[in-house]
Amino acid sequence: MAHSGKRRVVLDQVPQRVWRAPHLPFGLRTRHINDDPETGAQTLVVDVPPGWQMPAHWNSADLELLVRDGDLTIAGRRCRRGHYLFLPAGTELGPISSTEGATLIFWTDAPFEVRTDERPTPSKPLGETVDIFDQTNWLPVQEAFAGVTDTSSHGDIEVPTQCIRLRRVEETGKDTILFVLPRRFAKTALEFHHSTEEIFFLDGWCATDPEHVYRAGEYLCWEPGVIHGVVTGWEAICLSKHHGPLTSPQIPLGATSVDAER
Ligand SMILES: [Fe+2]
Repeated sequence: MAHSGKRRVVLDQVPQRVWRAPHLPFGLRTRHINDDPETGAQTLVVDVPPGWQMPAHWNSADLELLVRDGDLTIAGRRCRRGHYLFLPAGTELGPISSTEGATLIFWTDAPFEVRTDERPTPSKPLGETVDIFDQTNWLPVQEAFAGVTDTSSHGDIEVPTQCIRLRRVEETGKDTILFVLPRRFAKTALEFHHSTEEIFFLDGWCATDPEHVYRAGEYLCWEPGVIHGVVTGWEAICLSKHHGPLTSPQIPLGATSVDAER
């Protein structure tokens, strides 16, 4: 099992549910975007009401969150719109609070469980807070990936594709990346990936083929091997999570067959 392929999810059209769980203060609402039944991993959008508070606690799953709107103080960090944070299992998360309220993109890698008993030593260090909208954090793709990513099909664009590598799990190849497509972005080949890829579109527009244009507030999930392209875009800011190594074979236009090695 894995995360389900989804052609398009419009976040504002996903029904909200009241989130009730042991030790979780009342008031949060969730939108279920995707999950992996095998691991219990979930992709959620979480709405936090103004003035919400939660006492000290920890969680048994690794968490990643992006503040889409509003403010959130968590693990001693004061986060606002555009802040991304990786919170490993066992991190002291609370007290948590929000002044204005917040909307969060929220990933867990295992079942979410609020814990208030004795806390283990976190398995990994707490990540740095990263402001994904701060352009000084954006690196040209080849620099960020040290030559791993093939950009030969990115066509004749003056401004390089840029990105922030937010998280990488060396053992599995999983990673979380913010990538930015410049104006006039157009690839010259089709592509597919060997691992499941989730993308939240945050700004601008990105088309995965001429008929499918994605804008801020939308989401898609590619299952491994789904051919897409040619990808085009204009000032697109995309938050992407790969559930395995980021491999993107290029398929020349006009190719008649492909082996996705599934
Ligand atoms: Fe792709």
